[in-house]
Parts: sequence; C-alpha cells; structure tokens
Amino acid sequence: KDFKDQMIIDAGQKHYGAIICKSCGMIYTAASPEDEAQHIQHHQRFLEGIKYVGWKKERVVAEFWDGKMVLVLPDDPKYAIKKAEDVRELVDNELGFKQIVLSCPSKIKTYFFVSNERKIVGCLIAEQIKQAFRVLSEPNVPQSPNQDVLQHHRAWRCSIKPEAAICGISRIWVFSLMRRRGIARRMVDVVRNTFMYGCYLSTDEIAFSDPTPDGKLFATKYCQT
Ligand code: ACO
Ligand code: ZN
Repeated sequence: KDFKDQMIIDAGQKHYGAIICKSCGMIYTAASPEDEAQHIQHHQRFLEGIKYVGWKKERVVAEFWDGKMVLVLPDDPKYAIKKAEDVRELVDNELGFKQIVLSCPSKIKTYFFVSNERKIVGCLIAEQIKQAFRVLSEPNVPQSPNQDVLQHHRAWRCSIKPEAAICGISRIWVFSLMRRRGIARRMVDVVRNTFMYGCYLSTDEIAFSDPTPDGKLFATKYCQT
C-alpha cells in the first residue's frame, strides 16, 4: 500500500521518533506495532470518510482556486445526508465529542470545503439559534507553570447576559495538513453570506459554540478583523 508516503517530523523532543502520515495526517511511532495498527485503521477510515465523489445536483456555494464549497441541507437526498453524517462523525472523533445529539437535525446546514483533489478538507456545521453567550476574554494572569494547562482548559468564562444571534457554528474543522491557509476563514465568510437568504450576517450575528483552544484562537482572530 501507500504507507511509504510518510515523512519523519522534526518537532523536537516531544515527537521524537514520530512519523506524520502525509495522507491522513496522523502522528504515530513507526517502531510501535500497536501504533502502526492504529494508524492503518485510522488511515483507511479517514480517507474513505473525506473522499468526495460528487453529486449531480450538488449545491456549490463558492468556488476558489484551491477548491469549492458545497452545502448540504436536511432535505437533500440520502447519499448527501449520509456523507454529512460520516464527516461529522470523523470531526467529532477528532474533537473528542462523544455521541452528541444535534439539537435540531432539521435545521442543520453542513458546509464542505472540497479540495481540487476531491477530498473534503473542511467542514462547518451551522444551525439557526436565537441567542448566544459571549465568551469573555481571560483576565491577564501572570505566567505560571500551569499556563499550558490553563490554556487547554475547555471551560471559558462566558457572559451571563444572552445576546441575540442568528447563526450558531457548532463545528468547524479543517484537515490537519491544510490548516493556516485561510480555509476556515473562507468557510465562515461563505456561511455569513449564504446562511440567511439575502443578508450578510455580521460577526455579532454568528456564534461559535463550546470552542476548543484552536477554535477560540481562530474565532477571536476572525471576529476582530
Ligand atoms: N493558533 C493561532 N491562531 C490561529 C490558529 C491557531 N491554531 N488557527 C487559526 N488562527 C488564526 C490566525 O490568525 C489565522 O490567520 P494566519 O494564518 O494568517 O495567522 C486566522 O485565524 C485564520 O485561520 P485559517 O487559516 O482560516 O484557519 P484554519 O483553516 O487553519 O482552521 C480551525 C482553523 C478550524 C480551528 C482548525 O485549526 C481546526 O480544524 N482545528 C481542529 C478542530 C477544532 O478545534 N475546531 C474548532 C472547534 S470549536 C467549534 O467547532 C465551534
Ligand atoms: Zn495515514
């Protein structure tokens, strides 16, 4: 198979001896048979999951030099819904979400970013909401050895005052090897433009739910600019 398609990563002590697979992005230790078995399993499932064959009546909402965006709506044919569910499962797995039930499946809009190589390298799940609680910025705490732990803590401080919002982003994900190329930014831009017919939503009208550290860094940056 194509597992030779790898490279040794040079990320210092922490990942010493680790390999990153160039197709699925998994980091593992080649010396460990257990790791390698886990990789093979992940590799196949992941590549199958992000494979995009395309549909005759796909809804293309944006086109870019490096791919396009496709929107899947709740009333779409079964194969489209199935793909949306499969990708959501992959994303939830990576985010560590376990069997989270969508609050209202009939209002979910799933956006895919499909690369020119026909892979789903970005996914955004948006739903209509009425209100949101703003995440408050952290007070300036002095540097401490615990900083890392604090920064990776999930419980951000939230305002207790609800604010009107229209579009809730419940998941945003970009394939690990394609990050920092503006894919997430472009996906949110397109959502703001297509979520509600005829309006361009302001950054105050969109809300990110339960952000991860990556998600928070992205959202903070996005909403400022
Ligand atoms: N660290 C610091 N700044 C960041 C990061 C980061 N990890 N990610 C994005 N930013 C900021 C940068 O300023 C960036 O601009 P720059 O690259 O010119 O400096 C700007 O946001 C725009 O970033 P994009 O390239 O558009 O973001 P990307 O395509 O890399 O996707 C995402 C960001 C979706 C958060 C990605 O890192 C990811 O999939 N992470 C894992 C899954 C995850 O945690 N998703 C968020 C869950 S929370 C939720 O779904 C509501
Ligand atoms: Zn792999």
